[in-house]
Amino acid sequence: MADQYAQSSEDIRPTGIPAIPAIRWDEPPEGPVLVLLDQTRLPGEESELVCTDAQALVEAIRTLAVRGAPLLGIAAAYGVALAAARGFDVDEAADSLAGARPTAVNLAYGARRAQAAYRTAVVDGAGPERAAGAALEAARALHAEDARASAKMAAHGLALLEELLPGGGHRILTHCNTGALVSGGEGTAFAVALKSHRAGSLRRLWVDETRPLLQGARLTAYEAARNGMAYTLLTDNAAGSLFAAGEVDAVLIGADRIAADGSVANKVGSYPLAVLARYHHVPFIVVAPVTTVDLDTPDGASIEVEQRASHEVTEVTAPHVPVLGMEAGGGIPVAPLGTQAYNPAFDVTPPELVTAIVTEEGVLSPVTAEGVAGLCAESRGG
Ligand code: MRU
Repeated sequence: MADQYAQSSEDIRPTGIPAIPAIRWDEPPEGPVLVLLDQTRLPGEESELVCTDAQALVEAIRTLAVRGAPLLGIAAAYGVALAAARGFDVDEAADSLAGARPTAVNLAYGARRAQAAYRTAVVDGAGPERAAGAALEAARALHAEDARASAKMAAHGLALLEELLPGGGHRILTHCNTGALVSGGEGTAFAVALKSHRAGSLRRLWVDETRPLLQGARLTAYEAARNGMAYTLLTDNAAGSLFAAGEVDAVLIGADRIAADGSVANKVGSYPLAVLARYHHVPFIVVAPVTTVDLDTPDGASIEVEQRASHEVTEVTAPHVPVLGMEAGGGIPVAPLGTQAYNPAFDVTPPELVTAIVTEEGVLSPVTAEGVAGLCAESRGG
């Protein structure tokens, strides 16, 4: 079945990573700025969004111009540095960035880390300029650490795939977007698939379109195409028939928050995939940096799941979903006027459905509270 959907080699024109990085700090003569690749305009347009203050970044986070757990942490850290460099109230900026979206724990982690670096510098007697420099240094360090973590996760993830599925020919199903667009490096789950592709082991990447905001169709397919991977797009509700046809060897997803008991919050639609995977005896693998683990969240029920606006479901927008975050969608209605939608951005998969969690520290399987605590201790050198 898979080969029926294979692109011809002419269809796949690898053009490399995006010309514009997902995020970069710049210092033009007018003052420091944070420059984002505007993900709401992909894949049609690679355009930059320039943030001159934390409030603009908060807006970019809410509208998903910048998104995905690890990148949200990096962005928030730079946002605090931006506030400091431009002389705004750093605590206020850190609070509004940390609270811009509730589920991805990396967001608050990044904001608080840069804020702490700033405060420590102030306590140590630094003036505003040097303290701002300390916040920027913290953001840059997080950015670089995430790139290193991404490379390590890819290596651990591929080793796990080789162990579970010896002989290559991996047919991997993924959900949402977890590549270079969400990371200081090549991503989380997507980085594993990419490494499998580079090793000649990836037979097919099945890409869930990821309703309603189409992160799979717009972003993962874009990254897969640019990397010359053999990929096929499917609607989320086609996944069941794909499992039933025996076309999926493993599911690889990222995470927005991993609770202390190993529950995994990720893009809505992940939990049904975990249920399908268990029924069909297919490994369900979560790939995330240790910064996504939140020991202060005891279990899945304690994870706050972001609820988003109805219009994201009741309207479709065209051509490149340019109005993702607007109050009134401005798109084409696909439901009667006034329809209210249930639109959680994430769902929670219980640890017993997760075959393994892959982090930069290694592979945790089975997923237990003790194992999750151990991962965190290891990453802190404990
Ligand atoms: O709403 P989004 O697009 O920010 O959701 C992103 C996801 O759910 C990703 O799968 C998750 O952040 C993991 S990315 C490494």
